[in-house]
Amino acid sequence: MARQQQNVIEEVRDSIKSLWLHRKGNDAHAAVQDVIDALYSKDELKPLIMNKSKEGDVWKFTIHLPPGTGFAEFKKKSNLFSDATGGSVHIEKRGKAVTMEVMAEELKKNYPYSLYDPTKYDDMYLPLPIGMSAKGLIVRDLTEYPHFFTGGETNFGKSNELHVFANSILLYRPETFMIIVDPKSTEFAYLEGRALVVDEMGDVGELLEKLNEELDKRKKILKAANCVKIQKYLKKRYEMGFIVLIVDEWADLPEDVQNDLWRLLRMGRFVGIHVIAATQRPSSKTFEKFGDMKAMFYGRLSFVVADAINSRMIIDCDDAANLPAIKGRAIYKCGLEMMEVQTLFLDPEEAIKLYDKSNTCKVVNPIAIKQPRKMLPPR
Ligand SMILES: Nc1ncnc2c1ncn2[C@@H]1O[C@H](COP(=O)(O)OP(=O)(O)O)[C@@H](O)[C@H]1O
Ligand SMILES: [Mg+2]
Repeated sequence: MARQQQNVIEEVRDSIKSLWLHRKGNDAHAAVQDVIDALYSKDELKPLIMNKSKEGDVWKFTIHLPPGTGFAEFKKKSNLFSDATGGSVHIEKRGKAVTMEVMAEELKKNYPYSLYDPTKYDDMYLPLPIGMSAKGLIVRDLTEYPHFFTGGETNFGKSNELHVFANSILLYRPETFMIIVDPKSTEFAYLEGRALVVDEMGDVGELLEKLNEELDKRKKILKAANCVKIQKYLKKRYEMGFIVLIVDEWADLPEDVQNDLWRLLRMGRFVGIHVIAATQRPSSKTFEKFGDMKAMFYGRLSFVVADAINSRMIIDCDDAANLPAIKGRAIYKCGLEMMEVQTLFLDPEEAIKLYDKSNTCKVVNPIAIKQPRKMLPPR
């Protein structure tokens, strides 16, 4: 059976290839039509391209699926469309129709951070530029996840993405209180004074206790104001800053902090406490509770991983195991939304210059920074 399926796939690939070879120019529309023709040549009714448009490098098609052709089944063919168009493809359901976006150019190996224009996202509480995709730059609000997880092999871009996230929040949402747990001690040292950088693993237990105390205080404040969550409270024009906890190398956290962490992950969202975590080894022993915790990280990003098991641990499917070995290349997943991205590249030395230029960052209480063990996040 599997062999038969394989034969059919190879046959389809061959016919696409021959059609493609005989076509002149880089016409994504014709390529998409070729794939549909090849895939559904035996069907009476084929998926129908109803509409096409092009914006910059991105083609957009609206496609109607005939009865009997399911969306999930059609979406699984996206790699065939990608091969034929030579670009990256994103397929999405829009009511009864399907939209297919094709980035005419293949994703590049490097997109600078400067492509991110923060002024476009004023309606988001904590915008995160996730990466470039077939749909253009993907930017999502951290408060909606409510926590974000990134995994993958060493040296493929986890920390870079944390630099992108940390700096875009500190630069453009300077009222946010940020804590960065940095076991390497060197990676985020440049942000000391702008964020609370904790590099002693022995301090993490106390930090999480304090954050839980803060969580309880905030719960009381929201209750007194009759608000179920921080967003409601802010809409009533009360003030409460968001708190973002970034943890690089999550698997290095001490075991005895798991309960406090778990509570933060479960309840933090309502009071504006959000976690961004990165780890190389989600399968590590110190991380047994990860299966439970994973559900709290709705937004996930997996860079290249060693095998399908690790890919599944991070994004619940094998796709990250098939990524090309390109630094910064990853699969982004949030609920049903899933796509390949190339994260923006940000050199910390360049990041620091952005602060000097825009001067938007209000430095958090410097006394508290010198005494991380005593500190309480501001309100
Ligand atoms: N988005 C990107 N684009 C280009 N190069 C990248 C990107 N992300 C990471 N890199 C390169 O890969 C190297 C390792 O990235 P890093 O974030 O330190 O990986 P990790 O934390 O997963 O070990 C970086 O020093 C940088 O040169
Ligand atoms: Mg790293």
